[in-house]
Amino acid sequence: MKSESHLKKILVPVDGSHPCLHAEELVAAIAKNFESKVTVIHVVSHELMQAARKLDYHVPTPVLTEITNWFSQAGRKILWGAEALFKEEGIEVDARIVEYGDPAETILRLAKDEEYDLVVMGNRGETEAEVFSLGSVAEKVSRHAECPVLIVKQKTKLSKILVAIDGSESADKALEHAVQLAKKNKAKMTLLNVQESRIFGLKPEVTKEIGERILSSARAKVRGVEFNTQLESGNLAETIIEIAEKGNYDLIVVGSRGLSGVKRFFLGSISDDVSHHAKCSVLIVR
Ligand SMILES: Nc1ncnc2c1ncn2[C@@H]1O[C@H](COP(=O)(O)OP(=O)(O)OP(=O)(O)O)[C@@H](O)[C@H]1O
Ligand SMILES: [Mg+2]
Repeated sequence: MKSESHLKKILVPVDGSHPCLHAEELVAAIAKNFESKVTVIHVVSHELMQAARKLDYHVPTPVLTEITNWFSQAGRKILWGAEALFKEEGIEVDARIVEYGDPAETILRLAKDEEYDLVVMGNRGETEAEVFSLGSVAEKVSRHAECPVLIVKQKTKLSKILVAIDGSESADKALEHAVQLAKKNKAKMTLLNVQESRIFGLKPEVTKEIGERILSSARAKVRGVEFNTQLESGNLAETIIEIAEKGNYDLIVVGSRGLSGVKRFFLGSISDDVSHHAKCSVLIVR
């Protein structure tokens, strides 16, 4: 396990929404623990700007400029608010505004070019949709980022962490990150393996043994954290989500890919389902 801080640089895309404020508060706590540098970024963008360009809406230019200026001003206020929050906590912060761009593309490019260790963002903006699902920016970033992405869905403290383990390389990385977070926050951790219920139904002893082997190899990698292991059978994503909910976990940590390693997808289906449907915050590790 790495001993030095693995979270030197954290990128926080901000849009002034409630989930985003919860993300900022969580980052402040993490950054203090890991002595991380934080970059907050706001991308100014509005639908009319894109639609006018693509569809030839014939919006008079002065009107378009006025709307765009309004969005720029609002964006600056959002950015200043976030910057102030980190400064007040004594955290080194860099604030950037990108005038007009696709938010997800801009965030992905910056995360890659400047080699951030983690992107932390809200699951939604202020769009009144299903509260726990992902908005389009969060979805795109969590699918395509090359670094870990933490999706914050509500006010999150880190005292109970659930790590989903399937024996894959990606799950090993997830465990490594979870251990670091748990250590610094003195959190309790559960290592969970779920065996698919249909296979379990056919060969319970065999699948149980596989699950136990996966968990015992994970157990050997954990040091300095209070933890327990749990083996379940059921629908994979549903079971992870249900256990997180019933056990009041603050965070689920998953690898970005499982054992299937299907290359055409950027994110494994379980990680995708969990990040879309869990009620608590989710960290996707790569
Ligand atoms: N313009 C932006 N600049 C910087 N970060 C952003 C921007 N828009 C969204 N974000 C980040 O993405 C998170 C999720 O917002 P997202 O836009 O995906 O949800 P939404 O607004 O509910 O959905 P949609 O925009 O698809 O209607 C926000 O909490 C914020 O962290
Ligand atoms: Mg949005």
